Amino acid sequence: MELDIHALHDNIFEGLNRRWALLSATDGKRKNSMTIGWGGMGVMWERDVFFVMVRPCRYTYDILENTDTVTLSFFGDGYRKELTYLGRTSGRDEDKLALCGLTPVQEGKDVYFEEAKLVLSGKIIAKMDLNSSDLVDETLEKHYPKRDYHRIYVCESTRAFTQND
Ligand SMILES: Cc1cc2nc3c(=O)[nH]c(=O)nc-3n(C[C@H](O)[C@H](O)[C@H](O)COP(=O)(O)O)c2cc1C
Repeated sequence: MELDIHALHDNIFEGLNRRWALLSATDGKRKNSMTIGWGGMGVMWERDVFFVMVRPCRYTYDILENTDTVTLSFFGDGYRKELTYLGRTSGRDEDKLALCGLTPVQEGKDVYFEEAKLVLSGKIIAKMDLNSSDLVDETLEKHYPKRDYHRIYVCESTRAFTQND
């Protein structure tokens, strides 16, 4: 069922740190998905947006640098094994979409999964690179022992739908 993105009042990112989601993207040649545990949604520049944090070492990062579209897939219970695989293996080393045990779907630039409960798609409208000096709370530095600070992608929500209800 298509959802009105302007009326998405429930914060679908709530509990993301525990429930996780899949971030997927294609640059036309390559497509890939990775598990995310951090992100959020809200309003910026008068637009409905969501944001995700991606470290530059990810294969997905290379793809995001060559596309304007990010798709997030949110799942119900029972997909821990698949999300763990997609969050531990790199698309540089394996064809994760073929091996993950889920069913990827591509519609235009949107890559998502048949098994997802909710899919959110967005257009990248801003990118911000975190630096050590941006971490006002210095204890956050513990997340960066390799100093691989995230790039934050702010995406304008363009489409949301539910499936498998
Ligand atoms: C639960 C969980 C949450 C994760 N969250 C993030 C995240 O928010 N940002 C990030 O850059 N990596 C995150 N990762 C790590 C990536 O999913 C992982 O490095 C993945 O293998 C990258 O795949 P890729 O190289 O194919 O892009 C997470 C991993 C797990 C298991």
